Amino acid sequence: MQYDSEGTLRHLYAIEELQQHTVEELFSLADEMQTSRHLKSLTGHTLCNAFFEASTRTVCSFELAAKKLGIDVINFISSTSSEKKGETLTDTLQTLSAMGFDAITIRHSFEGTAKKMAECLDGRTTIINAGDGCNEHPTQALLDAYTIRQHKPDFATLSIAIVGDIIHSRVARSLILILKLLGAQDIRLIGPKNLLPTPEQYPNVILDTSIDAGLQGVDVAVMLRIQHERMEQSVSSEFKDNFQPFELTPSRTKLLKKDAIIMHPGPINRNIEIASSVADSNQSVILEQVRNGVLLRMAVLHKLLAK
Ligand code: NCD
Repeated sequence: MQYDSEGTLRHLYAIEELQQHTVEELFSLADEMQTSRHLKSLTGHTLCNAFFEASTRTVCSFELAAKKLGIDVINFISSTSSEKKGETLTDTLQTLSAMGFDAITIRHSFEGTAKKMAECLDGRTTIINAGDGCNEHPTQALLDAYTIRQHKPDFATLSIAIVGDIIHSRVARSLILILKLLGAQDIRLIGPKNLLPTPEQYPNVILDTSIDAGLQGVDVAVMLRIQHERMEQSVSSEFKDNFQPFELTPSRTKLLKKDAIIMHPGPINRNIEIASSVADSNQSVILEQVRNGVLLRMAVLHKLLAK
């Protein structure tokens, strides 16, 4: 369990198991992280970033966040690890835990890895999910929701569109869960039919195969990359050279509300899911998301490790 029997957050592996009051608390902590109050407050603690998949933003911002708090960080790169010598993931993580790390962030292509590891390490080490397959990416959802809240604090009145490769996106899944937790009513998932979930997977969410219809009057547009590495070859080749029907072009931005914000978790593929000029426009908050990622990860580490 993410929470212990006293209701204290011990791990972070899923937005699905996070309570609303914890989200609000993490947002307040992230606000505080903009001041110098907590700098070096976790000196003496240790963190291992165990990444078995590529990462730029997530791994660097966990490292920066930890260092700002005074935590010693070691980055474990799977391509140079004993996984290549036949060691199982469980044995690798048990080895890291035995070294005495206070926390391990883990990114892996298998769904449920973080939760499974938290259970098998028997509570000795705090586990933070940095992305598990197509399942969840909780710190990304926290930073996305925090960024939305800075611009548009009343989630209940917002229309939010998430566009692109929804079914392979752990970012989309965690974001939908956190938006619902915060009271959003109008969430629209837009993409080609074979990249959209079924209505049963996400009740009370609008599914649309037309970007022009779906983007009408939204406050927030979240664009997603096509995650070729997570899909079958036949589906991947279908979208290899043509994603124009779902690209956020300058003319399509006129469908959004005038003060709408445009988001993307990164890495962006310019002129595929988002026109280069749109990614760099005044409406784009993509780099704000990155900046907020450091604050939110500081908040998460503080919440989990500070006594
Ligand atoms: C995302 C991820 O890894 O899930 N990137 C990120 O963490 N910002 C999205 C993606 O890979 O497209």
